[in-house]
Amino acid sequence: MPRSAALQDLLDAAATACREVARGDSARVTETVFARATRDGTQPHRVPPIGLPACDWLAPALAAAARGPHGGVARAFATLAPQLAWTRRAGTTPNGGAFWDGHANAVLCGPAGYEPRDDILIGATIMAPGVQYPEHDHPPEEVYLPLSQGEWWNSARGWMDPQGLSLICNPPGIRHSMRAPAAAPLLALWFLPLGG
Ligand SMILES: [Fe+2]
Repeated sequence: MPRSAALQDLLDAAATACREVARGDSARVTETVFARATRDGTQPHRVPPIGLPACDWLAPALAAAARGPHGGVARAFATLAPQLAWTRRAGTTPNGGAFWDGHANAVLCGPAGYEPRDDILIGATIMAPGVQYPEHDHPPEEVYLPLSQGEWWNSARGWMDPQGLSLICNPPGIRHSMRAPAAAPLLALWFLPLGG
């Protein structure tokens, strides 16, 4: 099964956006991920679409992002988003407060993703206003492309606001998090090379 046009359009737009702003480690990581992404996924299977309450924030987030510096990414993602299986972070429970219905993740390319593959992980997170993603870490380094306002944290740098223009690069294994503004949703794409 060939890659869907909606996914290819999103990958093309995201690669263009990243090349405009990536520097140093962010450039190295995203170029690695996009180089691997030029190789089509090999498994002819896509997960069925699944929505979550937090997906209600996609429309306003995408409308705002379409007017921002990465409008091309937002427009491509608006086409793809309804086709994705949105899930809660593994281990999240209903007694986790606002985070339970205030976030949703989707894997575009990666294990069990819309395009199943094991060499890269490209995903998206939507969060309701005021919601913070739990502090976490993982072996692969990770670059975020913010499509909205928001703040990002890691244990070496503390909190920072990329002002919607730069990428956020988290080194392998570092503790990191992100949070939405008090009055607007957070929307971001994330890119991780898998397997070294
Ligand atoms: Fe992460």
